[in-house]
Amino acid sequence: MAAGSGSRGQGRGVCVKLLCVWSVCSALTAAYLLYLPLPGTISEPLKLMIVAAAFRGVSSLGDMGQSLGVVHHIRLINSAITGFESLVPLDYEEVQVEDLEFSGVQVRLYQPGTDAQPGLRRAVVFIHGGGWSLGVPKVGSYDLLCRKMAVKLNAVVVTVDYRMAPDVRFPAQFEECLQASRFFLQPEVLQRYSVDPQRVAVCGDSAGGNLAAAVAQQIGKDNSTAEKFKLQVLIYPVLQPLDFNTASYQQNQRIPILYRELMAHYWLEYLGADPDLIHSLLLNNHTARDQKLLEPHRAKIDWTKMIPKDKKKEYKPVVPSKGSPGILQQVPALLDVRAAPLLADLEVLKFAPRAYIMTGEHDVLRDDGLMYTHRLQQAGVSVTNHHYEGGFHGCVSFAFWPSYFDVGIRAVDDYIAWLQEHL
Ligand SMILES: *[C@@H]1O[C@H](CO)[C@@H](O)[C@H](O)[C@H]1NC(C)=O
Ligand SMILES: *[C@@H]1O[C@H](CO)[C@@H](O)[C@H](O)[C@H]1NC(C)=O
Repeated sequence: MAAGSGSRGQGRGVCVKLLCVWSVCSALTAAYLLYLPLPGTISEPLKLMIVAAAFRGVSSLGDMGQSLGVVHHIRLINSAITGFESLVPLDYEEVQVEDLEFSGVQVRLYQPGTDAQPGLRRAVVFIHGGGWSLGVPKVGSYDLLCRKMAVKLNAVVVTVDYRMAPDVRFPAQFEECLQASRFFLQPEVLQRYSVDPQRVAVCGDSAGGNLAAAVAQQIGKDNSTAEKFKLQVLIYPVLQPLDFNTASYQQNQRIPILYRELMAHYWLEYLGADPDLIHSLLLNNHTARDQKLLEPHRAKIDWTKMIPKDKKKEYKPVVPSKGSPGILQQVPALLDVRAAPLLADLEVLKFAPRAYIMTGEHDVLRDDGLMYTHRLQQAGVSVTNHHYEGGFHGCVSFAFWPSYFDVGIRAVDDYIAWLQEHL
């Protein structure tokens, strides 16, 4: 008896020990999967680690799906984003929403509620980000952002639901955003929605900031468009595919959620180029010193002359003397201003609207935004650069429950306050 109860006791002891070992192992595995070394100055690092782990999980699933030949990885990631975004509870329900076509392009138009003040209103054309291939403008955080702008600014907001890669490539995304903007800027259309033609802004985040900047340049220089944008708001825009080793690319290459390689990957998807070129791009082989085609543009991407000293830190430019000849011929869009608005001449930039450019310290695209700030100012355009020391790429998409960051909420409120004052 005594022996029997002893062995039962021992058995329980072993069970408890196993349970302890299992718990410790699971906790370690979870910590290993979640852990990412992040700089202390970034906003809410623990939360960001969780978001980053979720993104890593979804993109691994996407890669798995693609290698099994079941689904393109972008489609799978987009379904996951849609699923997640549909959890975001609706707010600002007083806003009137219509899904329309502007010159054959899908848009959603938001109008402030019926109790809003009468008279002519302001308007914002919004272009969402997501590497020209991801993002669901009509669901979740982008939808809420547009509703919030409509309410806070008493403005008509048009969000462009442009088609994306891999269904379409450059210049389709750009063309659709341009067509929708041109359509909206027609006097009779503005009148239909009681919009003051002098008070229309264009705004976009990330790849949407790229499209917004390119569209603003085109409309600015086009003398056949009577109505122009008054302002452009560019939220951590991507503006050039020629230097993947700017100081901010070097500093933030492993900071979620936009890693250096991922950005190069999205460029190649957008431009419809061979994905294997990524290795050359990351080495700046396409812009090596022996690449003659780049000569007219070198000064426009020379961050050593355009970003402040405290941002350059100890980083050195990466300009190989010999590179991969042929890439710029093979992918001419790399030098096309409609894809790379940073490359526009001052003669074009000077017609661009007054700008608000938001940058984050912990973002590979920080220097794209800082260089564009510099070049627009060189062209005589007034620019407000709002820089967030704790900012990371994508933070503006995390400004609503259930996934929100203090820096995201502040960044949204700040740019809306700027529009409130200047639009
Ligand atoms: C458009 O107008 C501006 C200013 O009037 C002028 O400098 C420019 O050359 C014109 N552009 C074209 C393409 O006609
Ligand atoms: C980069 O360019 C160098 C010099 O031409 C070449 O040896 C190297 O293979 C290139 N690397 C890639 C990844 O294209």
